[in-house]
Amino acid sequence: MTVGPTLKQQVLPQHVAIIMDGNGRWAERRGKPRVWGHKKGVEAVRRSVSFCRELGIPSLTLFAFSSENWRRPEEEVSTLMQLFLLVLQKEVKALHKNDIRLKIIGDLSAFSPSLVQSIRKAEALTADNKAMTLNIAANYGGRWDIVAASKQLAQQVQQGTLQVSEINEALFAQQVQMAEQPELDLLIRTGGDLRISNFLLWQAAYAELWFTDTLWPDFDQQVFSDAIATFVNRERRFGCTGAQIRELAAENKG
Ligand code: IPE
Ligand code: IPE
Ligand code: MG
Repeated sequence: MTVGPTLKQQVLPQHVAIIMDGNGRWAERRGKPRVWGHKKGVEAVRRSVSFCRELGIPSLTLFAFSSENWRRPEEEVSTLMQLFLLVLQKEVKALHKNDIRLKIIGDLSAFSPSLVQSIRKAEALTADNKAMTLNIAANYGGRWDIVAASKQLAQQVQQGTLQVSEINEALFAQQVQMAEQPELDLLIRTGGDLRISNFLLWQAAYAELWFTDTLWPDFDQQVFSDAIATFVNRERRFGCTGAQIRELAAENKG
């Protein structure tokens, strides 16, 4: 099958976000501890980043740790933190080589100084990369994001540089995370649950929502391309297939 003349880069979503859910269940079904699922989930992250990069999607945002995930057993939280640090240190070179800018969104004040330092270093190294931005949401909450934006504006009012009457949606939108990137087009959740779990509340206002029962460690090009094809068909009514999306990625890869 060849890609028709109508299926081009510009019909693809410009910003995709994923709630990467189902690691624990994936492991439990195999009689392994939950953390095993998180480790396997890293491979799915790698696959998803590569696929977006091949497709030329400029922004990908992954929900890695929510502000509510601190409530999990201490051992799981600490494994997740260690894994995050390890992956950050291990993968940043590959991201840089592929011209990918890394950004961590979330409240970093709760993280250990060594993790924060690692994050800042990785962001600085990749800051000028242009092909794609990978946002990792860590200790992120949609409500935190909105509150932080409100505080920014309140501060400007307090300083006398902003009038309350000047506050509107456009101005507010400039204060939330990823304001400098394309608007969120497609929000995917794996793991079968139909909820947002306090992810991108402001940014998802007009995003297409796509849910799959696939557990995160099983998320691959096949599933991802189905999500993108659904987006293209809902938005632009092109009637393309997942296979065509994969073909487009392969073509770009050269
Ligand atoms: C999502 O997988 C990953 C994180 C929250 C870090 P879960 O750990 O929530 O897996 P399930 O939903 O319990 O299967
Ligand atoms: C959402 O998954 C958070 C991440 C994927 C990081 P959860 O498993 O934490 O969400 P709930 O608890 O089912 O809402
Ligand atoms: Mg879960």
